[in-house]
Amino acid sequence: MTTAPDTTSYDAHFKVWRGDVDGGGLEDFTVEVNEGEVVLDIIHRLQATQAPDLAVRWNCKAGKCGSCSAEINGRPRLLCMTRMSVFDRDETLTVTPLRAFPVVRDLVTDVGFNYEKARQVPAFVPPQDLGPGEYRMQQEDVGRSQEFRKCIECFLCQDTCHVVRDHEENKTAFAGPRFLMRVAELDMHPLDAAEETGLDRKSTAQEEHGLGYCNITKCCTEVCPEHIKITDNALIPLKERAADRKYDPLVWLGNKIRRRTS
Ligand code: SF4
Ligand code: SF4
Ligand code: FES
Repeated sequence: MTTAPDTTSYDAHFKVWRGDVDGGGLEDFTVEVNEGEVVLDIIHRLQATQAPDLAVRWNCKAGKCGSCSAEINGRPRLLCMTRMSVFDRDETLTVTPLRAFPVVRDLVTDVGFNYEKARQVPAFVPPQDLGPGEYRMQQEDVGRSQEFRKCIECFLCQDTCHVVRDHEENKTAFAGPRFLMRVAELDMHPLDAAEETGLDRKSTAQEEHGLGYCNITKCCTEVCPEHIKITDNALIPLKERAADRKYDPLVWLGNKIRRRTS
């Protein structure tokens, strides 16, 4: 009697980037894959069997903490949400750290750039005349914020955006899609009272967060694991609102009068 071959397990070929801030390169591995596994499982098997000092950042293994971001065959992805079954069994998978951020070690990068940008976006300004429990919003406005609030801060969109991916020099002037989306969320929030305090989120989007660098290629939207329509629902509306403000004749007149009287 012949035994049927076990088709649920196979050996896959991997190239994994190993190194640190001083440099490194791709190392070849052949590693077992079992049915239902994701790329993070394979990285863990490598740690357990062949490369115990391989550095990888992860936490939830459920696509919710945003920490296992890396690149697989050059595409920014979550290691824990990328099934091995989406690749051909004889394909060599290349796993590298996020390219837009400095490497710490192996697959771990320093994503501090994103925290700096987060700090530069002023928080929601509560309306003065309403107390807790008195906020009322249309469901449509709630839904808009809720879409943006699904963000897990994996920074895959920040990594893929061509404005900073190969252009370190643009990082000072450009906040990136994740944080422009935050500015858009607050600017479209019906209860945000920023303008009453003199904070114009539309002009800060242009002047301080580099909205003009974005040429709406939608690459950020394509890699978002939460399927947030970053470009269509945040960046394009923010550009339209900023343009409306800039070319609104009443705003223009108001600014002119203000300049004359000051
Ligand atoms: S749409 Fe804008 S923010 Fe998104 S990847 Fe393209 S240039 Fe970057
Ligand atoms: S918007 Fe999407 S891709 Fe960008 S950080 Fe949030 S979850 Fe990640
Ligand atoms: S380990 Fe949390 S998102 Fe992948």
